[in-house]
Amino acid sequence: MVLARCCFPASVKMNVALLACLVALVGICLARSDAPRGVAVPFVFDLKATCDPRCQHAGICIRNNTCFCSRGYEGETCQYANCYPKCKNGGECLRPGKCRCPSGFGGKYCHKVKCDSGCWNGGDCIAVNGVAKCICPSSWTGSKCQEAICPQGCRNGGSCMAPGICSCPEGWLGGACHTAVCHRPCLNGGKCLSPDSCRCRPPYSGPHCEERKVF
Ligand SMILES: *[C@@H]1O[C@H](CO)[C@@H](O)[C@H](O)[C@H]1NC(C)=O
Repeated sequence: MVLARCCFPASVKMNVALLACLVALVGICLARSDAPRGVAVPFVFDLKATCDPRCQHAGICIRNNTCFCSRGYEGETCQYANCYPKCKNGGECLRPGKCRCPSGFGGKYCHKVKCDSGCWNGGDCIAVNGVAKCICPSSWTGSKCQEAICPQGCRNGGSCMAPGICSCPEGWLGGACHTAVCHRPCLNGGKCLSPDSCRCRPPYSGPHCEERKVF
């Protein structure tokens, strides 16, 4: 052990100098709040030690080529972060306790499946054969449960906006957009079959069945 000529000139009694140096070292060690618990301090360390490659992540070089790692790191040069519990499902430990999860997994330890774009409208993300998938409530469908289901269908170019509710194009009405709108009514028993278009009962004709044909 080389206790460096750090503290006192030779004139001071050696045993006092040694004691003071040790106290100083213990102080340094205890002050390192991230030192692992359970390691007996003071440990022997060489102030002249060199570590090549250098100790990373604030590790201390305690003997030639021996690093003492900060809490949360391990490896020859303290190059690896520790994650406890370990990152699951192929996650990578980025820094102590912080996992980077592969796509499809989430949670602190990548232990949960995750639907990357989320599940909407109350869908649940679950693993199906190891692949994250949204399970949608009835009346919603699509990969994210983003599409409403209209059991009655939406006809004539209507689109399903919410469960059972169609948004109808101009000129159509009704739950399934099945009713045409004729702004001027069809007269004489005619029927509005498509927007502003009447089907007339004989002998009537004309745009609104207002004309009576003369034979
Ligand atoms: C540590 O390494 C240095 C230089 O590489 C050397 O001078 C020194 O003697 C070594 N110390 C020990 C304790 O081996």
